[in-house]
Amino acid sequence: MTILRFDVRAATRRDWRELRALRLEALLDTPEAFGSTYAESLRRTRRQWKMMARDFNYYVAHDGGTFLGMASGGRHDDFPGTAWLYGMYVTPEARGTRVASDLVGAVASWARASGYGALYLHVGAQVARARRFYRRVGFVETGDQHVMSRDPALTLLTMRLDLP
Ligand SMILES: CC(C)(COP(=O)(O)OP(=O)(O)OC[C@H]1O[C@@H](n2cnc3c(N)ncnc32)[C@H](O)[C@@H]1OP(=O)(O)O)[C@@H](O)C(=O)NCCC(=O)NCCS
Repeated sequence: MTILRFDVRAATRRDWRELRALRLEALLDTPEAFGSTYAESLRRTRRQWKMMARDFNYYVAHDGGTFLGMASGGRHDDFPGTAWLYGMYVTPEARGTRVASDLVGAVASWARASGYGALYLHVGAQVARARRFYRRVGFVETGDQHVMSRDPALTLLTMRLDLP
């Protein structure tokens, strides 16, 4: 495994440029993994990105200069007492390291500290690497699945991680 020095921390409004760049990179890298598209994200204003960086509870991995990955957490309105893991992305050069699991760890820590008992996520059925990674860190498929609204050819599976 690559040895990589990195840190994971909560994003702030000042990170908006790097978050924007990473999100746009993610949408080009693995469009089938995300609910929004590169084209619509490109239309977001500077003000919207700043608001997202400040309010969307993002965690970022960085090596001091370069952002290596991102993930966010939010309340799950359908299942009170649980939360979502959203927007998981790790740059190709940081894959196969601890970056992805530490990002999940950061969102899980936030969820536990907020009193949530489980984390849910949606993963594209076609995104084999992500499914395998999520299984390895303890997520299990719930059996729920639905078609992605922006592209009916894409199916999303629901996975859940209990937070003891
Ligand atoms: C999903 C993601 C965060 C996982 O991070 P990662 O660092 O790549 O994960 P890891 O390398 O630790 O684990 C991936 C697993 O898939 C395996 N794998 C690698 N390439 C694969 C492929 N093409 N098909 C299936 N499995 C694959 C790896 O061997 C590893 O399994 P193992 O731990 O049992 O050996 C990262 O790949 C990523 O950002 N992908 C693009 C965006 C994305 O898909 N996001 C998910 C949104 S739900």
